[in-house]
Amino acid sequence: MAASAGKKPISPTRSSAASDVSGGHAERKRGMLYGRRKGPKLSAHQQHLLDHLLPQLELHLSHADPHTYFSGAVEEVWLEVGFGGGEHLIWQAQHHPDIGLIGAEPYVNGVVKLLSQLEATSLANIRIYCSDAREILEALPDASLGRVFILFPDPWPKRRHHKRRFIQMDMLNQLARVLKPSAELRFASDDADYAEWTLEHLMAHPAFDWTATRATDWQARPDGWPPTRYEAKELHGKPVFLKFARR
Ligand SMILES: C[S@@+](CC[C@H](N)C(=O)[O-])C[C@H]1O[C@@H](n2cnc3c(N)ncnc32)[C@H](O)[C@@H]1O
Repeated sequence: MAASAGKKPISPTRSSAASDVSGGHAERKRGMLYGRRKGPKLSAHQQHLLDHLLPQLELHLSHADPHTYFSGAVEEVWLEVGFGGGEHLIWQAQHHPDIGLIGAEPYVNGVVKLLSQLEATSLANIRIYCSDAREILEALPDASLGRVFILFPDPWPKRRHHKRRFIQMDMLNQLARVLKPSAELRFASDDADYAEWTLEHLMAHPAFDWTATRATDWQARPDGWPPTRYEAKELHGKPVFLKFARR
């Protein structure tokens, strides 16, 4: 496949570097969260949202079936890793009222952005986890999620920082465990090297299939996939949209 997204072509070839599906814990120091947790000082109203609205929506981890995180009945539960300002999470919740959406985001100012949008809605199908998405994945029972979104994760472009990337073989093992058969994993990036890394890792993993059958499947925005705030900044290049199916 000829690819022209960003600096480097993306090739769907398998990589021996990505072939260690047995573990990979050494790739990332367990429990270490990279990136910012706090940004500019919060306004009084933002602090009010954190103190009063967040407790109504905050997810407290348990090992229970994630359907129980929602007060109403939900058909499936989906997870967004690193929702940023939350606009994509809200769009999905609005367009899929029968789905329970969990959003994980450790950056407090991002959580506040989501809360300020939620303040004006009556959405009942969002739960917020204000920390590391890996903790949710560890706590989830097997085959309990219908979809996972990883949209514009921090690209960590320097080679010595690649171990900080969210996509690692141990993480794919965890995602394979919690996703139901045929469940979808969506990944987007405007960093060609991270996109290529992701394809190599996913294609080397026995539990996932890349569902693209032609270039437009990953070069053009798919239906039901609204743009995110980070994407709109167009920092690195043209985004790619990758969909994988859990076998
Ligand atoms: C580049 S931003 C993209 C945000 C959003 N997805 C968008 O497209 O606008 C990456 C986000 O992932 C969050 N993040 C990084 N590591 C994370 C982790 N382990 N769990 C959950 N979120 C994480 C960061 O705090 C940051 O907000």
